[in-house]
Parts: sequence; C-alpha cells; structure tokens
Amino acid sequence: MSEYKERIIITGGAGFIGSNLLLNLVPTYRDRLFINVDCLTYAGNLLNLKDIENTDNYRFEHIDIRNYESLAECFRKYKPTGIIHLAAESHVDRSITGPAAFIETNIIGTFNLLELSRKQVESGDNLRFHHVSTDEVFGSLGDTGFFTEDTPYSPNSPYSASKAASDHLVRSYHKTYGLDVVTTNCSNNYGPYQFPEKLIPLMIRNARAELPLPVYGDGQHVRDWLYVEDHCRAIDLVFHRGKSGETYNIGGHNEITNIELVRLICRILDDLLGGGPYERLITFVKDRPGHDRRYAIDASYIEHQLGWVPQHTFDNGIRKTVQWYLDHEDWLESCISGQYLKYYEEMYDKR
Ligand code: NAD
Ligand code: DAU
Repeated sequence: MSEYKERIIITGGAGFIGSNLLLNLVPTYRDRLFINVDCLTYAGNLLNLKDIENTDNYRFEHIDIRNYESLAECFRKYKPTGIIHLAAESHVDRSITGPAAFIETNIIGTFNLLELSRKQVESGDNLRFHHVSTDEVFGSLGDTGFFTEDTPYSPNSPYSASKAASDHLVRSYHKTYGLDVVTTNCSNNYGPYQFPEKLIPLMIRNARAELPLPVYGDGQHVRDWLYVEDHCRAIDLVFHRGKSGETYNIGGHNEITNIELVRLICRILDDLLGGGPYERLITFVKDRPGHDRRYAIDASYIEHQLGWVPQHTFDNGIRKTVQWYLDHEDWLESCISGQYLKYYEEMYDKR
C-alpha cells in the first residue's frame, strides 16, 4: 500500500453519487489509491463499478460504518490520507417509515469515522475529511430566496435531521480537535445509477412498465436539479482545494416543480419510445408528511472561490438520463431483484 502516497477512502462508493465519483476519480488520478468502503445496503450495487473493479488503484472493502472495529482495522490497513464520506441512508420516504437506520448510519457511522480520523491525526498521520451533505438540512424555502452557507439549519425529516446532526459533528471535530474538514451541501442530483426509488428513475421505470406515476400532494414542490457529474466535479475541487473548516453549497440554478418535471419526462419518453402520451399515467397521491415545499441553492461561494460552474444544461442532462435508463433495463432489474448480491459473492468472496 505504501507505494501510494495518497490513499483516499470513499465511503458509500457503491451508491449513486459514490459510484459516479469513483468512475471519475480512479482513472483520473492513477497515482492515488481509492478504497471504496461500503456495506452494500439495498442502495449499493457493485455492478456500477464494473469499469474500474480490476484497476490497480482501486480496492473494495465490505464494511459497515456502524461497526467501529471493522473501520478501525481498515484505518490500520490503509492509513488513509483522505476520506470522502458519502455513505448514508439517503431516502426521505424510508426515513419516515424506519428512522432508526438513519440515526445509526448517518450519525453514529459519521461519528465512528471522525473518531478514527482524530486518533490517526493525533498519532501523527494527517488526513483531510470531506463530508458530503445535503441542502435538506436548511429546511424549506418560500416562493423566493436561496439557501446560502449562512442559512440556519431547520431540518424537517428524520433523514435531514440525521444529516444535520452529522454536519454538526464534523464542524465540532474541526473546532475542537483541529481536524482538517470540508463540508459540501448539495441539491438534488440526477443521472445514471440512481436507485429507482427516487423520483426520476422511478418515473422512467414505471412509465416503461405502464404503471402509475405517483406525484405527491399537488405536485407544486420545487427541487433544484444538478447532473451528478457536476456534483462529482465540485467534490473533487473542494476535496483538493477547499479551505479547511469551510462549507460549500452546490446547486444547479435549475428549479422545476415536480409535476413539470414528470410531464417533461413523459414527453421525452413519448419521443424516444412512442406509445404515449405517458402523461395519462400521472396519478396524484397522498403527500409525503413534512414535505419540504421548495429547495434552491445559491452556489456563488463555490463559483467565486473555486471557479466551479455546472457544465450540463438541464435539457441535455435529463434527455441523456432518460436514455441511459432505457438503455440499462438490466441494471434497473438488478436493483429490484438483488442480482448484484450474487455477483458480489462471485467477485469477492472467492478471492
Ligand atoms: P445512495 O443511497 O444511492 O447510496 C448510499 C451508499 O451508502 C450505498 O452504496 C450504501 O450501500 C452505502 N451505505 C449505506 N449505509 C451504509 C453503512 N452503514 N455502511 C457502509 N455503507 C453504507 O445515496 P446517494 O444518493 O449516492 O447519496 C450519497 C451521499 O450524498 C449521501 O450522504 C447523501 O446524503 C448525499 N446527497 C445526496 C443527494 C442526492 O440527490 N442523491 C444530494 C445531496 C447530498
Ligand atoms: O435535496 C437533496 C436530496 O435530494 C438528497 O439529500 C436526498 O438524498 C435525495 O433523495 C433527494 O431528496 P428528495 O426527497 O428531494 O428526493 P426524491 O427523489 O425522493 O423526491 C423528489 C421530489 O419528488 C420530492 O418533492 C418528493 C417528490 N416525489 C418523490 C417520489 C419518490 C413524488 O412526487 N413522487 C414520488 O414517487
């Protein structure tokens, strides 16, 4: 391992954003070792990482971040020089029906990583800790205004409350122990490899199967969508060049109501598949409890400080995304059937 001067743990690397990040970082930085720490919940899928699984500078460690001892062993083995922490329970609806896992992974799991980082630094081996968080910690906006880095925290779901708690822990480890931390709070991501419980892949899968397209409440809730590759570029920038102790908001300047977005997806499917209009499948259903009305990010700090700007327009990104899910029906199936677990056993347990 010592042949690599930089050894970076990516937690949650088999999930949506984590796998997009690894697919970008591993080939870009061939002189750095990337260690994917993931316990493969329903949301983790090693098929996402097929293109890099045999690359020299990539390793997979099947570890649950709730398990301090397993994580400690991993720290001893790799002595990481950096951590980019994405592992989390990430779905708001699941946090409403089963909040315990969110408390355990998002809070205790983050605490375990911070403690081990603190101990490693105190024993003389420095590291940078990048915490990947969400705009949901800020709560809900009215019709106007934007979330900035100074917006007070006001989480409304067990998911966002658990992420807010983890953000506070990260901050406290910087203030109290001087740990080198950076935090990013990003808006809704979209793109390849998103688990089909989230709005965009769910709508595409359901439309394809002629199932209802469930829109919560009146459909007038607003989200600010960012193509996942643009988020990954921002993470790369902040991890390498962000100021220690700072937080950076990341967003797409791309607000749209849920109903407009679902109608847009239907029109794209009409074009690509025929058999429309898919809008006929739209079904208004009971609202999500505590449903935040509007999110919108002011990203001017990261734009001015680090020169980040999104490279994908929403028109291109959403078309590309719909096409990707249509081209990857097997992948969608693997999420539902858990086929990837079998794949995992074959790939790793036999080594
Ligand atoms: P995801 O649910 O797709 O993936 C989460 C990954 O974490 C999975 O691979 C899962 O197996 C792993 N994981 C979960 N619990 C674990 C545990 N106890 N130990 C080890 N691994 C565990 O999530 P995502 O959408 O890729 O989000 C990644 C991160 O980015 C999260 O921290 C989320 O809060 C944050 N975020 C997401 C978005 C978004 O729009 N998806 C936006 C802003 C921030
Ligand atoms: O803002 C960042 C957050 O974005 C991340 O922190 C979360 O991890 C990520 O899941 C996402 O949270 P949302 O709750 O905004 O995403 P979701 O895809 O679940 O829902 C998007 C919007 O669509 C939301 O207003 C609820 C609505 N919705 C969702 C589903 C799944 C529907 O109307 N129908 C649905 O079936």
